[in-house]
Amino acid sequence: MNLQFGCGFFCYGSPCDTGYLFATFFVVHDTDDRPFDMQMVWSSNRDQMVQENATLTLTFTGELVLRNLDGTLVWSTNTSTPAFQRMSIEESGNLVLYNSSGRVIWQSFDYPTDTLLRGQKLKVGQKLTANISPKNTSQGRFYLTLLHDGFAMFTASAPAKIYFRSPKPRTGVELSYAQFDNQSINIYSEEGGSPSVNLPVPKSSLYNKLDWDAHLRVCSVQETEGRSSLDYVPPFLKSIAECDYPRPCGDYGVCTNGQCSCQGDDDAFKPTDVSEPKSGCIPRVPLVCSQTGGSQGHHFLELEHVSYFTYVFDNSSMPGLASRDECKTLCLENCSCKAAFFRYRTNFSSGYCYLEFNIYSMNTNNPVETYYNSTAYIKIQSRAKRIKSLFVVIICASVGGTIALFILLWAWISNSRKSRHKIEKDEDEGEDDHVDWPAGLPLRFSFEELQDFTNGFGIKLGSGGFGSVYEGVLSDGSKIPVKCLDRAGHGQKGFRAEVETLGKIDHLNLVRLKGFCAQKSHRMLVYEHLANGSLDKWIFSNKGHQCFLDWKSRSKVVLDIARGLTYLHEECQERIIHFDIKPQNILLDQNFNAKVSDFGLAKLVYRDQSEVITMMRGTPGYMAPELLNMRITEKADIFSFGVMVIEIVSGKRSRELSEDGLVSLLQVKAAEGSLIDLVYPGIENEETGIMEEAIKLIKVGMWCVQDNFRRRPAMSTVVKALEGVIDTFNDVPPLLAGSTVASNQQSLFSSELSVLSGPR
Ligand SMILES: *[C@@H]1O[C@H](CO)[C@@H](O)[C@H](O)[C@H]1NC(C)=O
Ligand SMILES: *[C@@H]1O[C@H](CO)[C@@H](O)[C@H](O)[C@H]1NC(C)=O
Ligand SMILES: *[C@@H]1O[C@H](CO)[C@@H](O)[C@H](O)[C@H]1NC(C)=O
Ligand SMILES: *[C@@H]1O[C@H](CO)[C@@H](O)[C@H](O)[C@H]1NC(C)=O
Ligand SMILES: *[C@@H]1O[C@H](CO)[C@@H](O)[C@H](O)[C@H]1NC(C)=O
Ligand SMILES: *[C@@H]1O[C@H](CO)[C@@H](O)[C@H](O)[C@H]1NC(C)=O
Repeated sequence: MNLQFGCGFFCYGSPCDTGYLFATFFVVHDTDDRPFDMQMVWSSNRDQMVQENATLTLTFTGELVLRNLDGTLVWSTNTSTPAFQRMSIEESGNLVLYNSSGRVIWQSFDYPTDTLLRGQKLKVGQKLTANISPKNTSQGRFYLTLLHDGFAMFTASAPAKIYFRSPKPRTGVELSYAQFDNQSINIYSEEGGSPSVNLPVPKSSLYNKLDWDAHLRVCSVQETEGRSSLDYVPPFLKSIAECDYPRPCGDYGVCTNGQCSCQGDDDAFKPTDVSEPKSGCIPRVPLVCSQTGGSQGHHFLELEHVSYFTYVFDNSSMPGLASRDECKTLCLENCSCKAAFFRYRTNFSSGYCYLEFNIYSMNTNNPVETYYNSTAYIKIQSRAKRIKSLFVVIICASVGGTIALFILLWAWISNSRKSRHKIEKDEDEGEDDHVDWPAGLPLRFSFEELQDFTNGFGIKLGSGGFGSVYEGVLSDGSKIPVKCLDRAGHGQKGFRAEVETLGKIDHLNLVRLKGFCAQKSHRMLVYEHLANGSLDKWIFSNKGHQCFLDWKSRSKVVLDIARGLTYLHEECQERIIHFDIKPQNILLDQNFNAKVSDFGLAKLVYRDQSEVITMMRGTPGYMAPELLNMRITEKADIFSFGVMVIEIVSGKRSRELSEDGLVSLLQVKAAEGSLIDLVYPGIENEETGIMEEAIKLIKVGMWCVQDNFRRRPAMSTVVKALEGVIDTFNDVPPLLAGSTVASNQQSLFSSELSVLSGPR
């Protein structure tokens, strides 16, 4: 990989409508010398972008000045020397101004932003300050600084809160600067000495960056299978659990084992962005502080076992002991207090009271594992009581002597309002169970919200056995597919229970369920959007279009699918049989990682599995023969997987490959020793040695499509074979159990069955 530093005007997005930064960056070239990645490592004006036609001037006296289009001064090096000679960008990424005797008069390494490059020093007191968001370089909410006794990371709030501390040096040593060297971050106590603290980082690391989300990451070059890529990993902070970072779930979000949720009933908090659980929560009614103090209309949302990130590292600032009530009162008395955390030991009535003035994310602590338990009291604003003001109106009116009339009128209005409310509630059975909805589950949308996102279900992306898929767009422009289920076999409760199970599934090779809607008769599922769509668009050659995956991607796709299925069959709590594995149900993300979609739907729609088989019967061509005899095991998925593997290797649909059925074709080709005919044409132009891999994969496919389902391998065995851990599938297996089954097999692939379920 070829890597070069440069400097110039930099912007995010095209066109650069938000403005430009004067920046240094590195450009990564691939083997064909095309730039494929560009990362900014320093900028002069991170808080103030300049517009088109801004000017950067280097004066004769060695001052570098940045002015905006209208001539206003944005930034300057403030240097002036009679003997200025040159400016240069060094190999290290340092931008330097030199005088004629070769002395440095200014360098960008002295003004770190959020990144520390190799060779760059961070002196005591200097900070790396995170960006505010991935594409906004303004100074954000977290910083890393070097103290006399080691690194520390803080939230940039008032007061600042510590969330990480590096190991300390031997006692008595005062640190002076940190330098990012080849394979570690070394912290020195004096110039020229040996390092006092040594924090290892991965090999071939390029830089260290405090990211906008409070994570410190090291960027390093990874060489995998001859391809280079950039990798971002936490360097030495593995000890911090995800939930112990300040903001894994946005402000006011509660983090439970890495999952985010908003707490309290609907009256307290709502998600900032329903489609993004990590975006945090906002109070329904904002907190107000009146000038006079006194009663502010504040009360607390009490959350048992909820704690705050600062406790992990900040034992130095323990407050005094207090009782629960004292703790609450302390927070109520100071209007800027946003929450009180009461930390106590079981069966002790007093504990430590922490008042917080800024709320980042909170986390659920496990009372069994931790010494201390914690209760969070989160301050919320009471809703203004409308009834109260109505009373005021009534009392004023009574002066005129019409009190009785008004009371009658009021009683009538409120009564009719109540009964209307009741009717609405009855129509929408179960709406209030929202409160009990446990943490970390897919978000619940109303029908109206989804109608809004999909523009009235305007764009249909496809339809299949279970219903239709529509394109939805959120307010931030991101896409979500919305699947409307035609038939809903369950009532609200059963449906939710199933959604709950599916929503817990979080696997790299399974499409994530982001939300759902169960309102009246509507049953809808909201999935993550995957940029490259379904696999069938990428593997078949006959349409002559450009999307034809190369061998490397194909074999990776097969492994990805196998991993996803292994999870469904063998690793998740309740075994999930897919029943409809086919290329249309495999989706690809922007990096061509394959993910299995639509898993669990069979169970969502049909109550029990024998019903699934009679009702839907999978897709012809992919369906295992034993399903016709109601033999239901996960081996049915293995069969479909095998068919799909052959399709991926051959680039042809199974029904194009053979009239008589794929299995008999495979048997004939194996007997002739000409399996090679099945590999897609053009593979020989790609790389040498991959033909053998292709044949191997065909054999794996053949093991999966055996008639006798007991002989088909488990998915985890397939994964091991694909990873090269075992080589059990080198032989050709006996495909057919006997001739009677063979005739069954043929009818399975005939076109008569295709009425049962079309492709999506
Ligand atoms: C970046 O964030 C700051 C602070 O929220 C805001 O004032 C500024 O407009 C943002 N800049 C861009 C380019 O969005
Ligand atoms: C920048 O300068 C060019 C050439 O003078 C001019 O065509 C263009 O309109 C200017 N752009 C802006 C935003 O002023
Ligand atoms: C240069 O001087 C200006 C005005 O005194 C000041 O605002 C700015 O921060 C200085 N810039 C640097 C890089 O020190
Ligand atoms: C870092 O590695 C380079 C090349 O491998 C070597 O020349 C240099 O001395 C090393 N620097 C340190 C501080 O170890
Ligand atoms: C509330 O607490 C903050 C932080 O401790 C303090 O600065 C402020 O003076 C307090 N306000 C009142 C009214 O006591
Ligand atoms: C706490 O009190 C309860 C009831 O008095 C008792 O059963 C329990 O053992 C106590 N737990 C501890 C840890 O002392």
